[in-house]
This record gives sequence, C-alpha cells and structure tokens, in this order.
Amino acid sequence: MNDFGYDVSDYRNVDPLFGNLENFDTLIAEAHERDIKVLIDFVPNHTSSDHPWFKAALESRDNPYRDYYIFKDPKSAGSETHTTLPPNNWLSVFGGSAWEYDGASGQYYYHAFLAEQPDLNWENPAVQEEMANIIRFWFDRGVDGIRVDAIRWMGKDLEFRDDPENPHFKTGQDPYHMVRHIHSRFGPRQEDYLRVMTSVAREYEDKIIIWEDHRDTLTPVPQQIKRIHGVDPEVSAPFIFEPMHTPFSSQAFANMVNTNQQHLGKDLQPFYCFGNHDEHRLVTRFGEKQARMLAVMQLMLPGTPVLYYGQELGMPDATIHKDQVQDPFEKRVPDRGLGRDPERSPMPWNNGPNAGFTTAATPWLPLIDDYRHINVETELEDKNSFLWLHKTLLDLRREHPVFYEPSYEHAYVDDAVFAFWRTNETEQFLTILNFSESEAEFYAPEGGKLVVSAQGHDYDDQLPVFAKINALDGVVLRYG
Ligand code: GLC
Repeated sequence: MNDFGYDVSDYRNVDPLFGNLENFDTLIAEAHERDIKVLIDFVPNHTSSDHPWFKAALESRDNPYRDYYIFKDPKSAGSETHTTLPPNNWLSVFGGSAWEYDGASGQYYYHAFLAEQPDLNWENPAVQEEMANIIRFWFDRGVDGIRVDAIRWMGKDLEFRDDPENPHFKTGQDPYHMVRHIHSRFGPRQEDYLRVMTSVAREYEDKIIIWEDHRDTLTPVPQQIKRIHGVDPEVSAPFIFEPMHTPFSSQAFANMVNTNQQHLGKDLQPFYCFGNHDEHRLVTRFGEKQARMLAVMQLMLPGTPVLYYGQELGMPDATIHKDQVQDPFEKRVPDRGLGRDPERSPMPWNNGPNAGFTTAATPWLPLIDDYRHINVETELEDKNSFLWLHKTLLDLRREHPVFYEPSYEHAYVDDAVFAFWRTNETEQFLTILNFSESEAEFYAPEGGKLVVSAQGHDYDDQLPVFAKINALDGVVLRYG
C-alpha cells in the first residue's frame, strides 16, 4: 500500500485489508446478477518491491528473476565507475531519479514511480507470459475487463538514452517535467506489449481492455489516436483524459471534442473521462454550475462516459491538512497541489456518522466538508440534485438508441456557446452548452422539445422558438 494498490505483491489475490478471493467471487456474482459488468485495475508496468520476483531478483545478479526487472550498472565517468551516478537521467514521476542503487550487487534498478515500485522488463518473454497468465486468471474468474495502468511507461528506449532537457520548464512546476520524456516513455515496443494483453482478451468472447493513456504534447493528436486506439479496437480503447485538462471555455471544449470525433470516426469508440483518482474533482476545478453543465455535455457525447465515484453527486475535493496526507506524491513533492488525497475522500452515502462510509472511528481520509448535503440519501430526495440530473441523463441515454450509435455532428461554437447534434433516421437531439456567466443568444431550429436543463430551467417563455440560453446552462432539445 505504498501507492495504495498500485504496488502489487501478489497478482492472484485480494489484499487482506479488503477481503479475500471468496468475497471477490461473491462481488462478481452479485454484480452479474444485476447486469453489472466488473472491470479491475491491472498494473503491468511495475510490481511492488515486496513481490517474490523482486526479492529473488535482489538475491544475486544471476538469479533467473533478475531479468524480470531492469538492473543496470552505474554510469562510468572516465576510467572510474561512480556508484553515485545513475545509468541515465530518467526521472521518477513521484520525484527524484528513477534509479535506486542496490549496494549488495553494485547495480541500479529502474522505477518510473516509487522505489517500492520497480519496473518490470517487458522485453523479457517470461514477463510477458506471466502477465498474460495473470490476466487469464482474472478473466477465468469472471472479470469482464481490465483497466491497464500506466501504459506509456511500459515502452522504454531500448538503448536507455538520456531524456533531453525541457526548454519550456519553469521553476515551481512539477520537477518531473524538467526533461522531455521522449526516451523514458512510449518506446518503440510499447504497442507489441499492449498486443500481448489484447491477444489474451481475444481468447474470450466478451472481454474489454481500457488503457490508461494520457495524451502528450509532443505528438499530433491523430497520430496518438492511431497509436493506442489502433492496437486492437475490437477489444480495447484508451480513456480520453483531455476533458480533465481542457480550460473552461466553449472554444476549448468544442475544439477538444471535434478533434477527437473527427479522428476517431465511426469505428473507434471514445471513453471521455471528466474526473479520476489522480486529478482534482470537477466541481473544485470549475464550480458547481459549471460541473452540472459539463455533466450534460459528457453524457450526451458519443461513446462510453466514465464517471469517477461522487462525480454524480457533485462531490468536491476534501480539505486535507498536513497531518492527514496519505499520498506518497504529496509527501515527496509537497505543497504544489500535486497530491491526490483531496479527490480520494470517502464516498458520502448519507448524513450520518462518517457519511455512512465506515463504522470505524476515523476513515482513512477526511470526509468532504459538506457531506451533510452532498450525499446519496439526501440527494435522492431532491429532484434538483446533481444525482437526479445524472439519473435523468442516464435514463435518456438508455431509452434512445441514438446515444449508443457513433453519430456526432458539430452544430455551432462562439465565445459563449458550443452545440452539437446526435441524430439517426428517427431521432435528433441537439445539446446546447452556455459556458458564459450571462445569458447567451442561440437560435435552435423550431420544433424542439426540452428534455433536460442542467440548471433546471423550463424555458416556457421561449419554446417552441428557442433563442436564448441561460447562464451556464446545458440544454438538450429533442426533435422527431
Ligand atoms: C497510474 C495511476 C496512479 C498510480 C500510477 C502508478 O497513473 O492512475 O494512481 O499512482 O499509475 O501505478
């Protein structure tokens, strides 16, 4: 639990903190009974330093498990070898060098994240075989798919060349970005490694793989889409994380969506993601009304929308005091707002003790400040709540096949408004989003019926001719 589950010491078990395999089987069975599919997180880039493979690897240079990991000699300067010189300048995401010195063998080992998370050597066919078998283990247990962690670090430059300096780096930024990660990530064999996993998925009827892939700023978007979506679109697709990094403006969001839709076409499925466990929550980033409007946008877009728990409640970040910090990232690179604890606070179920999350005296992270109002039970009783907005939008998606289809058509963009169509032969839906804090003009074709307003307006004075959209509203009109 050095990185809260992203440091695996046994790939075929459940951490006793959370239960056991029998509990897991019950979970799967109960979920399937309710027509819910279950995906689990799979971490192939690194293990825990407590993993038996790594312990064996540390035993000696010629241990068969040594080559499961990446051990290298220190860099030599002139005729002498200095143990203080790591093999290259690659950095750890969580601060400092990505190389840890192992005094016993006189070599360094590589870790893209914590030293307690040594990277696996995917060039080794034995590693590929082990990982494929682990995926089979979970698929055979009934898991419907995997979310694959940190894939861009899997591919490494085969010669381990230094990353070049980043000329755009400014003091005060995350020090990880001092260099441009062109050699430490996205190496030439990355896609081959990903295919090891998709070929396992193909052995089964109905399994899915979602890649944790962030876009980088170095490669044109179409090329990036091709690189990861292209691996095996029948069984796999990446998350689209751009909504988490897009500034709040109609032009920026329109541009982000239009570019993705244009290059994905009708065959590649988008997984738009507006929040996750590594980024500050939507409400905290943009504000409550803004988040309501973006909920309309996300759930009306094509593809599979990915909601992070609590997003449907309008849950903000929690306040984390210094003595409550859990995240190793915050501990190692403090006070820059990089820590991920604020977005990982307990799910608020009700307004009782600990918001109904735990019967323990103190939950592992503090609750959000306003859990008395922002919780499932309270919101279920209020038709104007975030939860009901999400229920309405999800019902709409479920009831109308057009939302399962890939159609998407840009309708309009200006400095305030972004609008798009979802249509098929029988139904047309127009989504209109006002990013400005005042009323904006927008002339929709006549005959539309209002099906959703993010801020709960009825537009009675306007319809059937819709000409103005209220501040920060997200509206869906139905035609046909
Ligand atoms: C991914 C996860 C993050 C984790 C890291 C290392 O980026 O989303 O939470 O810390 O990989 O496994």
